[in-house]
Amino acid sequence: MAIITLTQFKGGVGKTTSAVCLSTLLCERGETLLIDSDLNRSASLWARKGKLPFTVCDDREAPKLLSKGKYEYIIIDTPARPASDEIESLAKGCDLMIIPTTPDPLSLAALAQIAKVLPEGTNYRCLLTMVPPKPQKDGAEALEALERNGFPSFKRTIRRYKAYIKATDLGLSLNKVPGGGIAWSDWTTLWEELKDYV
Ligand SMILES: Nc1ncnc2c1ncn2[C@@H]1O[C@H](COP(=O)(O)OP(=O)(O)OP(=O)(O)O)[C@@H](O)[C@H]1O
Ligand SMILES: [Mg+2]
Repeated sequence: MAIITLTQFKGGVGKTTSAVCLSTLLCERGETLLIDSDLNRSASLWARKGKLPFTVCDDREAPKLLSKGKYEYIIIDTPARPASDEIESLAKGCDLMIIPTTPDPLSLAALAQIAKVLPEGTNYRCLLTMVPPKPQKDGAEALEALERNGFPSFKRTIRRYKAYIKATDLGLSLNKVPGGGIAWSDWTTLWEELKDYV
């Protein structure tokens, strides 16, 4: 079983979107449970039409579902602005922590802060999301800055596309959204890096 937790100090950086897309990716490889531990219940709202190809539950339902022992992948979506002391338990409670960040100075600064309070030895990777498509260089420059500062990061960045908004509206996974193929290809490429961790 592999447990992946998504967290960031900053809100609106793509935690829930990444949690849903990673669950979509992983459920093709094994039974996947997405635990929505954000009181906003954004992931649960996305799942409301029952069209996502994996199970979504909130943290109170999770123990019962987990007791069935059938899940190979557990993805945990968390609220923004966790307290520093929560970070430690979030880190201890997963095998891989993914820290999504948009390529703007405020999100990158929030990432640097959270990385500072992670317990020593935490297995974590930064993921750049909502990256403006080329020829804009924001994504490449942000990735370079992350690497220069020693933050372990996925080389594949997640580009910004309208298909994400459609996916939430329609309650679909990104790979089922008409015209969402290019956006989805970022996740299938990310798998080449992710598979070493799960
Ligand atoms: N790659 C993308 N391209 C375009 N829009 C995106 C992308 N990723 C996320 N979004 C949009 O950005 C907004 C914020 O994303 P999301 O809800 O995943 O962030 P979050 O970090 O979970 O936010 P919160 O802190 O409020 O929980 C949403 O409207 C989502 O649809
Ligand atoms: Mg969220």
